[in-house]
Amino acid sequence: MNIHATVAGTLDKASPKVRDWLAQPRPMLIDGQWVAAKSGKTFAVIDPATEGKLAEVAEGDKADIDAAVAAARRAFDSGPWRKMTPSERGRVLHKIGDLIYENIDELAELDSLDNGKPKAVAKAADVTLSADMFHYMSGWPTKIHGKTIPISNLAAPGEYFSFTRPEPVGVVGQIIPWNFPLLMCAWKLGPALATGCTVVLKVAEETPLSALRLGELLLEAGLPDGVVNIVTGFGETAGAALAAHPNVNKVAFTGSTEVGKLIVQAASHDLKRVSLELGGKSPNIVLADADVEATVAGAAAGIFFNHGQCCNAGSRLFVHDKIFDKVVDGVSAAAEKIKLGFGLDEDTEMGPLVSEVQYGRVTGYLDSGKADGAKAVTGGDGVDGPGYFVKPTVLVDTTPDMKVVKEEIFGPVLVAMPFKDVDDDLIRDANNSLYGLAAGVWTSDIQKAHQIANRLESGTVWVNCYHVFDAALPFGGYKQSGWGREMGEQVLNNYLETKAITTKIG
Ligand code: NAI
Ligand code: MG
Repeated sequence: MNIHATVAGTLDKASPKVRDWLAQPRPMLIDGQWVAAKSGKTFAVIDPATEGKLAEVAEGDKADIDAAVAAARRAFDSGPWRKMTPSERGRVLHKIGDLIYENIDELAELDSLDNGKPKAVAKAADVTLSADMFHYMSGWPTKIHGKTIPISNLAAPGEYFSFTRPEPVGVVGQIIPWNFPLLMCAWKLGPALATGCTVVLKVAEETPLSALRLGELLLEAGLPDGVVNIVTGFGETAGAALAAHPNVNKVAFTGSTEVGKLIVQAASHDLKRVSLELGGKSPNIVLADADVEATVAGAAAGIFFNHGQCCNAGSRLFVHDKIFDKVVDGVSAAAEKIKLGFGLDEDTEMGPLVSEVQYGRVTGYLDSGKADGAKAVTGGDGVDGPGYFVKPTVLVDTTPDMKVVKEEIFGPVLVAMPFKDVDDDLIRDANNSLYGLAAGVWTSDIQKAHQIANRLESGTVWVNCYHVFDAALPFGGYKQSGWGREMGEQVLNNYLETKAITTKIG
């Protein structure tokens, strides 16, 4: 596997437009202006394929979060955003979706350089789904409404007119990770804007670039100043200041379960609203009657898509023992065919992990699995640098207590385990996790598929497919995978308060 023959120098393969855009230190978006950090500090954004520097961005911290929250507060309390009609707000959201499509190549290139993922994947998945999210959300402002409610209160005789009125929760702090840089912006901003909130968005320090380009498109779409403020900076400083800020009404977070718990603590001081989209260790269950070819392709995509850096990755494969060897051999063969390389090369199927830290984590899990007695059918280690490449890996001979089976690895590492019967033990093993984000079931018996789906402790179940996302489908987790749901009608609840108004009319 000679990756380095294909990996050019940092930015060598970037388009002139992107190269020019990255040549200047990129400022942050606060109150409609592009500003440097108050401290004057910047930090380097690293290309995970070459370890070279892609750009410098502002290093925002507490002082910048304060300025951004003040701008969002003003925009919420007295700015033009809340005075716009629902239809006008919908038009701005639709325009954002259109502009994302118009700039699809540039945005995909930025996410590819920054995160390491193939540009073709960024185009087909990240950027397309981002545009879809804004288009889907653009229909909601005109459809968010309350109910009239008949009341029966005998202690207060008379006639009353009661109705509910959904209202935006206010200023929202949003903190997002690096695995889908642009898409995480869209998942968060779309519903917050549809409900009429204003936002301070703290993007991941590993991948700030496409969010800053999106900020330019937000202004171009006519979003008023201060409605969305984008701060680049680190989690422990900028992120923590946002989560604890007294003038923020709600925090929406996607990232590790560990930091999710810190967010809850920070928000507990003034009981801010919190929604969380956290980790996973999702079971992918293959029954004996599954179509082996489709299952092998789906199980491989379930774990290797986005280099395994998906909270919903199908990372625990349970296969009926009659077809265990066939499926494991098939997934391993698929893993060996995956072409690792530089994201901007057209034939690249998998890039590097996002950072040195993630490379260290994932290879640490591989070492721990081997030390515990698991066997790598394929892969099993990283690739020598430069670049944070890890070989797609399939582990067998595991036991339920191994770290590689229990913990989220967030890399291209599958653990495959055989089972004998579709019974309570299988359901218990599949549910034996702190997490409950997603699951897969592969079978030609659709009745059985639904019986299993109903018993899985999981926010999403895919039957004979995996990784099928849509702006209209709610996504989120049971147990320690989070609070609330992203996308669909349901995400609007994350950003709304309900007011009940009662008038005595007789
Ligand atoms: P992280 O949870 O530390 O980072 C996510 C976001 O939270 C980033 O914007 C970061 O700056 C911010 N953050 C970090 N510490 C914070 C704090 N104390 N207060 C406020 N914000 C803070 O995740 P990290 O370190 O990038 O990855 C670690 C592990 O987390 C991964 O190996 C993976 O298991 C999991 N993860 C899960 C994701 C998901 O989609 N659910 C996404 C990224 C990571
Ligand atoms: Mg972290």
